[in-house]
Amino acid sequence: MRHLLSPLDFSVEEVDHMLRLASDISENPDKYSHVCDGKKLATLFYEPSTRTRLSFEAAMLNLGGKTLGFQSAQSSSASKGESVADTIRVISCYADIAAMRHPKEGAPAVAASFSNIPVINAGDGGHNHPTQTFTDLLTIKKLKGRLDNMTIGLCGDLKFGRTVHSLVNAMKRYKNVKFIFISPVELKIPQYLREELTNENYDFVETNTLEDVMPELDILYMTRVQQERFFNEADYIRLKDSFILTESKLALAKDDCYVLHPLPRVNEISVEIDNDPRAAYFKQVQNGVYVRMALIMILLGLDKEFPID
Ligand code: NCD
Repeated sequence: MRHLLSPLDFSVEEVDHMLRLASDISENPDKYSHVCDGKKLATLFYEPSTRTRLSFEAAMLNLGGKTLGFQSAQSSSASKGESVADTIRVISCYADIAAMRHPKEGAPAVAASFSNIPVINAGDGGHNHPTQTFTDLLTIKKLKGRLDNMTIGLCGDLKFGRTVHSLVNAMKRYKNVKFIFISPVELKIPQYLREELTNENYDFVETNTLEDVMPELDILYMTRVQQERFFNEADYIRLKDSFILTESKLALAKDDCYVLHPLPRVNEISVEIDNDPRAAYFKQVQNGVYVRMALIMILLGLDKEFPID
């Protein structure tokens, strides 16, 4: 049995297969509408979410399956003190596959070790968010036609942003990828990530000005300042509007520099950009459903019935 806890749990070849399957699903949705007939997905969300939870649910419904679950720790037995280990043992009796979001780093990994069904990490604290990363990869692949040979700018809360940590880990496996990290000093990438990139000789730069690097970028990945992970409200208020992408800043970018954002957006992308052909954040949302459909099929071993090569 297979789980998805980190984007690195899948080899580059397996990611490629997943993205090709997701593309085929997007082109031929009817072909896949009964793949999961009779199967159930449990969504175990201990932290708020709109996109990710509903995206998983939409994915399972599109495959012909059903869903069950809870949307917050307060509405589950966690509020009575039940452990993640016990919860997943129980859920294993009700569902065929589970997606878990949790504020504590590593909680989905604990669940996986007690589970009889595949567990998908749908975001654990500031750590990883592999299904968002696969969504980002599919979006970049569709827009640029490649995942190698590019300069990607990641801007905003690079300290707490799990989507950033996951995406960097996934993208560094492709050739000739340069990372430009744009953040206030207080929200720079975590030291462990900096050390990994340095020790493994990756090409990366850290800066606190967006305008200077804008002309170099092939992809700009904007992120929200993660209010819920701050210890101090005053720090959040001081840092929350550090970077706001406006039309005048985007004017410095290449014509084919696409802007991605995992959403939810707060202030960091001005709505005046939404109709710019380079704004790709709503396309990402749609791609998220296709990727999750592909992932559910793969983890349930159902992809083999649908050869795409
Ligand atoms: C992200 C997350 O939860 O980490 N959202 C998402 O899943 N699309 C980004 C965020 O909350 O800022």
